[in-house]
Amino acid sequence: MPPYFNAVKITDSVYWVGAIDWNVRNFHGYKTGRGTTYNAYLILADKITLIDTVKKGFFEEMLARIASVVDPGKIEYIISNHAEPDHSGALLQTIKTVKPAEVFASKMGVKALNAHYGAGLELTAAADGEELDIGGKKITFMETRMLHWPDSMFSYLQEEQILFTQDAFGMHLASGERFADELPRELLERQAESYYANIITPFSPQVAKLLKKVEESGLTFNMVAPDHGPIWRSMEDFKRLLDLYKKWSNRELQPKVVILYDTMWQATEKMSRVIEDGIRSAGVKVEPVNMSVCDRSEAADKMLDAAALIVGSPTLNNHLLPSIADVLIYLKGLKFKTPYAAAFGSYGWSGEAVKQVKEYLEAMGSEILGEVKAQYTPGEEVLHACYELGRTAAEKVKAHFQCSMSNDSGEKLSKNVKSI
Ligand code: FEO
Repeated sequence: MPPYFNAVKITDSVYWVGAIDWNVRNFHGYKTGRGTTYNAYLILADKITLIDTVKKGFFEEMLARIASVVDPGKIEYIISNHAEPDHSGALLQTIKTVKPAEVFASKMGVKALNAHYGAGLELTAAADGEELDIGGKKITFMETRMLHWPDSMFSYLQEEQILFTQDAFGMHLASGERFADELPRELLERQAESYYANIITPFSPQVAKLLKKVEESGLTFNMVAPDHGPIWRSMEDFKRLLDLYKKWSNRELQPKVVILYDTMWQATEKMSRVIEDGIRSAGVKVEPVNMSVCDRSEAADKMLDAAALIVGSPTLNNHLLPSIADVLIYLKGLKFKTPYAAAFGSYGWSGEAVKQVKEYLEAMGSEILGEVKAQYTPGEEVLHACYELGRTAAEKVKAHFQCSMSNDSGEKLSKNVKSI
């Protein structure tokens, strides 16, 4: 057994045996500036059980961590909570090495794993609510379909009250610390928010249902162990995360406008600056994002609580700029929908970009408040129109907040959490 890559003890019988990826910066389009971890968990019982594996390329690290606790050949069961390759990429290699008696996944997980790695994998479908006796301990499976893949499920270790949640409640954050209470709260909330914005947002209705389902299950937790980032062992910290999930899944907006734009010769940028000033002059928060220097993930982060989106693009070869097309496709895929939107931009001789942006914003379900176009350099009249567009957006946003939104499922779920 090598002296390096040791397991981290979580409880007397549960160990973290995952891998730290300090270098990943692009997670299928999501900019992961702080790297990530691929968490796998080893449960010591009469039938030693491994929950999830790691991304391909990190198998040796995981195996060494397992071997620091127990002979990997003694693993009887593997549970695959999620089939995405960052958690199942090392599964085949693990099965070949460990030769477990049985590998469990949800019904959809069985299909997904076979589709990924070739039919013929011997997998057992775990039904929602089914219990697995691992000898002295029991695991309950909980289907969490579309959170965030069809195969996704949670596993709950009854005796120690640990909920293994695959991607949910995780974050892309590489660190030497394994527990959330060892890290600054501001960092955790920032990374959890970015993870939610860039991964979970389209599945917000499922999050709300899940919070209700867990609440109704009556389960209590001592620990919540996701497949990315730190483990939640302080239930006070986890309650705060639940409150944030409640807020994000309910799409609790703030009186805030996001301006996304790119510029060729600073004409569209100048328009953006004046729109920004119009919004701020009406007392509403505004966050401009220049897509020539910012990443699409930063735009998604800012969209999580925005009540209006204003998008600016010059016209290039009869089209909107590629950077704006990119971010609009990304945000539409994430199902971001602001109540209000508007478009603006400069052009030389044809000026199709503003119309194209507007069509996209309409397809995203927003009410279009207006548009402003400038031929070449915006003059006083155009800049005045930009200022007024900003004021109009701000007034609409302020009026919107006369309505309130509420959903208390997250609050109820937090009652299931107990301190350790
Ligand atoms: Fe971390 Fe959906 O994979």
